[in-house]
Amino acid sequence: MIQGPEPEATRRSAGARESSRANRRWWDRNADEYQREHGDFLGDARFVWGPEGLDEAEAGLLGPADSLKGRDVLEIGAGAAQCSRWLAAQGARPVALDLSHRQLQHARRLDDAAKADDAAGGARGLSLVQADAGTLPFADGSFDVVCSAYGALPFVADTARVHREVARVLRPGGRWVFSVTHPVRWAFPDEPGPEGLTAVSSYFDRTPYVEQDDRGLAVYVEHHRTLGDRVREITAAGLRLVDLVEPEWPSWNTQDWGGWSPLRGALLPGTAIFVCTSE
Ligand SMILES: C[S@@+](CC[C@H](N)C(=O)[O-])C[C@H]1O[C@@H](n2cnc3c(N)ncnc32)[C@H](O)[C@@H]1O
Repeated sequence: MIQGPEPEATRRSAGARESSRANRRWWDRNADEYQREHGDFLGDARFVWGPEGLDEAEAGLLGPADSLKGRDVLEIGAGAAQCSRWLAAQGARPVALDLSHRQLQHARRLDDAAKADDAAGGARGLSLVQADAGTLPFADGSFDVVCSAYGALPFVADTARVHREVARVLRPGGRWVFSVTHPVRWAFPDEPGPEGLTAVSSYFDRTPYVEQDDRGLAVYVEHHRTLGDRVREITAAGLRLVDLVEPEWPSWNTQDWGGWSPLRGALLPGTAIFVCTSE
């Protein structure tokens, strides 16, 4: 296979269109590797909130599992829809949305495998939608719950718009729960070893992290918000923040995931999970 030069990593501005385009292509190119590398940890039908391994079956951040039965749930940035498959097993009606066609093909692959394994024929395919989180293709008040495990929000330039879209598609009294990289991590190198323990840049610098090709075109983008930014965006969308969960690294988890590791997890939060409700 012919490969071009390695992309250059930098910090520079990147707007909504450039971020969306770069990330759709990046996830299409890297979906196979992501699923190969993390598929076992994620499980085919588990709801894991992040690299610490916090499982929704224990955490109950969407509410008690039995309250999900019959609920319309939207999962944003669903990847191969492992979380949606767990939701379906609780009796919810999930819709799994992702920007990347290749990620959704993995969702279909896992569905097909589940159907083939299910001798009684009870396993049903999930509803899959390819769309950008900034423009949700659903009518107002379509869902009881919207959730996202590291899907979309770390990658979107206009995250305030995502919260407004979520507020629009939620029914009154609905719940919006999402996990992202803990904002404090932006002050540290994204390395699992000791070099990832020394702050080298400002937590307050919101300049996006961009990988760009030799023509200066973004091929991967991540966007930073401080904790205060996230709270302000949530409340400005008319939502109420009811909890902020910072999972601690559990002793059973000996696995690195990129810059997340037992070493760093013992000292620094790696994931922030925001639990919000619509009035
Ligand atoms: C880190 S993966 C998480 C996937 C899944 N939730 C999991 O835990 O494996 C991030 C996902 O967000 C999707 N994504 C990135 N930007 C998006 C956007 N603007 N709208 C919708 N999905 C997006 C990517 O395609 C990718 O599948």
